[in-house]
Amino acid sequence: MSLRCLITAGPTREFFDPVRYISNPSSGKMGFALAESAQRQGWVVDLVHGPVAIKPPAGVNAHAVVTCEEMYAVCGPLFSECDLLIMCAAVCDMRPKIRAEGKVKKGDLSMTVEFEPTRDILKTLSAARRPEQTLVGFAAETDDVENYARKKLEAKNLDWIVANSVAKGGAFESDTNKVSLIGRAGEHLSFGPDSKAAVADWIIEQIAKLP
Ligand code: CTP
Ligand code: CA
Repeated sequence: MSLRCLITAGPTREFFDPVRYISNPSSGKMGFALAESAQRQGWVVDLVHGPVAIKPPAGVNAHAVVTCEEMYAVCGPLFSECDLLIMCAAVCDMRPKIRAEGKVKKGDLSMTVEFEPTRDILKTLSAARRPEQTLVGFAAETDDVENYARKKLEAKNLDWIVANSVAKGGAFESDTNKVSLIGRAGEHLSFGPDSKAAVADWIIEQIAKLP
């Protein structure tokens, strides 16, 4: 029986009216590269992704979503069936408290948008994890990258966290990436800079080595 892998990718969007949203510039390339590598290395892959301009790799089960809650709703049932979760999506951390039913007119510029946090999908899934599942998060940081990454590894009860710098010239929208893979038992491995395809192959290989 093949092992199942759930990978999330790309940004999510949160709307304050039917046509306007906040999000981030994630291209989805890293998550899609991971899906491609995992598929090639023999995993059955579910790829849950936000709005991106690229096509899912052939042979993976792709699921397109828009908001954080939609991503969570699709990931929930897939997570209970998977052996490995790689949460690479750049989930938008906040959403407008109110979503206007109709388009906000430009004459309404006095309007103030208040935000509330979105669900932490990884933390929610991790709270329901089976011990034999492997959970991998990504930590996008602008400074003190590895220290913050290690804190996220613990706070979200993960096995591995991929730390990458999103400082100027870092991972977002880029074709290359440089990463550290930090493990629960204190492991610390580094790779790159190299293409996202090469980084993806390396990450999947390292994770598959796990007992
Ligand atoms: N994540 C998630 N749901 C969210 C936010 C983040 O599942 N609402 C996941 C990301 O996919 C990633 C990990 O949590 O695997 C860490 O994301 P990151 O943005 O680095 O950290 P946050 O916990 O969101 O904290 P902050 O952005 O404030 O640094
Ligand atoms: Ca975040």
